[in-house]
Amino acid sequence: MDVSGLTPIEQTALLTEYCRALDSKAARPILGDRMAEKTVDQIDYDFTTLAATPSVVPLVALRAKMLDERLRAFTAQHPDAVVVDLGAGFSSAVFRVDPPSTVDWYSVDLPAVIALREALLPVHDRDRSVPVSLLEPGWADSIPADRPTMLFADGLVAFLAEADVIAILRRITDHFASGVVAFNDYGPVSKLNRLLGRLATSSKTNSPHSQWNFPGFEDAHRPEAWNPDLTLLEEASVMQRPESALFPAGLRLAAKLSHRVPAIARKARVLQYRF
Ligand SMILES: C[S@@+](CC[C@H](N)C(=O)[O-])C[C@H]1O[C@@H](n2cnc3c(N)ncnc32)[C@H](O)[C@@H]1O
Repeated sequence: MDVSGLTPIEQTALLTEYCRALDSKAARPILGDRMAEKTVDQIDYDFTTLAATPSVVPLVALRAKMLDERLRAFTAQHPDAVVVDLGAGFSSAVFRVDPPSTVDWYSVDLPAVIALREALLPVHDRDRSVPVSLLEPGWADSIPADRPTMLFADGLVAFLAEADVIAILRRITDHFASGVVAFNDYGPVSKLNRLLGRLATSSKTNSPHSQWNFPGFEDAHRPEAWNPDLTLLEEASVMQRPESALFPAGLRLAAKLSHRVPAIARKARVLQYRF
């Protein structure tokens, strides 16, 4: 499959899918997403140009696993739920989570990514495509608003400006009656951090670091100040999961330290907010 027409921001979907494929091939996978391997195999692309380092791979796999667990819990509690994957890319989360047959799933991404997603992934009877930019105020208009809704974003917010993240959260609480919004983040990411990320991966022509936009935040309550309809439900560190035993040595050390150094724990979080 030819993906050469994707813009740099759209190409970020290749990295996360590739990381999940590499995890699946590992001797001891964390997520074990076999469909990611099949998807990557169909894509005609030099994946070595991406910054899929030995540390990034398990972090991407583990945060997906953590989001899957939260999606399974929400859909088990609300069998009439709607799930919305914000910036779905080529993720097979709907297959991994395998929600009850009464749950409807919506995958939102830019039109070029959605077209490829439909060509690459097998059909899932409840996965509906929403080809739209989340920067358009009407992005949620075609999604039912009156059912318990879990919206999640895996790997999206880093690439958005803070004002855009705030606008998307506002749109969520204006449109959907009630539910949960979950996303991964990296704590506060200073301009210096972003520059260092770019330099560290400058040999990788398609490193997503060049697309990094979001300054992040330290206090997980910060989105409550942006949007009073949101209440923090959970702040979970990817670094503090038992699967960190499978991380490569340097990252494993950081994971150990994260129990004493909150700034390290914040570097890879999964956050959930109720509305
Ligand atoms: C790092 S990828 C993650 C994709 C997927 N969630 C995953 O885990 O593989 C970020 C995704 O956000 C999408 N994206 C970025 N800006 C967007 C926007 N304004 N509207 C919709 N999707 C957007 C990109 O096209 C890309 O698919």
